[in-house]
Amino acid sequence: MRIETIRIRNFKALQDVQLEKLPPFCVFVGRNGSGKTTLFRVFGFLKNCLEHNVRTALNVEGGRNGFKEVVTRGHDHESIEMEIQFRMEIAGHNRLVTYLLEVAQDPKGSPIVSR
Ligand SMILES: Nc1ncnc2c1ncn2[C@@H]1O[C@H](COP(=O)(O)OP(=O)(O)OP(=O)(O)O)[C@@H](O)[C@H]1O
Ligand SMILES: [Mg+2]
Repeated sequence: MRIETIRIRNFKALQDVQLEKLPPFCVFVGRNGSGKTTLFRVFGFLKNCLEHNVRTALNVEGGRNGFKEVVTRGHDHESIEMEIQFRMEIAGHNRLVTYLLEVAQDPKGSPIVSR
């Protein structure tokens, strides 16, 4: 499996990030606090969503306050969005697969998968 694009919205320091045409070997350079570690936490977050559930994944990233800590500050009425496109062999063909997750809050403040 090879990831080709990553699109993130409202995940901590990553308010609106789109990485395209990712090469097989890729280095991320940026000043302190620019979001390098956060970018790699995207994969931990998705793993926890799939292995456990979205609430647990939010608590791992943001502690007890979950969504409120994880959503980008000042954007708490928006959803957290992650889209990953990767190449994968399916039924003998090399296909481009899109995985999309959108997490919002319901009116009671509970996290929900909105897409
Ligand atoms: N909910 C949030 N909204 C906006 N910014 C956030 C949020 N949560 C954390 N941050 C910010 O994210 C930054 C930390 O990002 P991260 O740890 O990914 O940076 P980094 O590039 O790995 O830095 P370093 O080089 O120091 O390791 C901090 O500036 C912190 O204030
Ligand atoms: Mg770091």
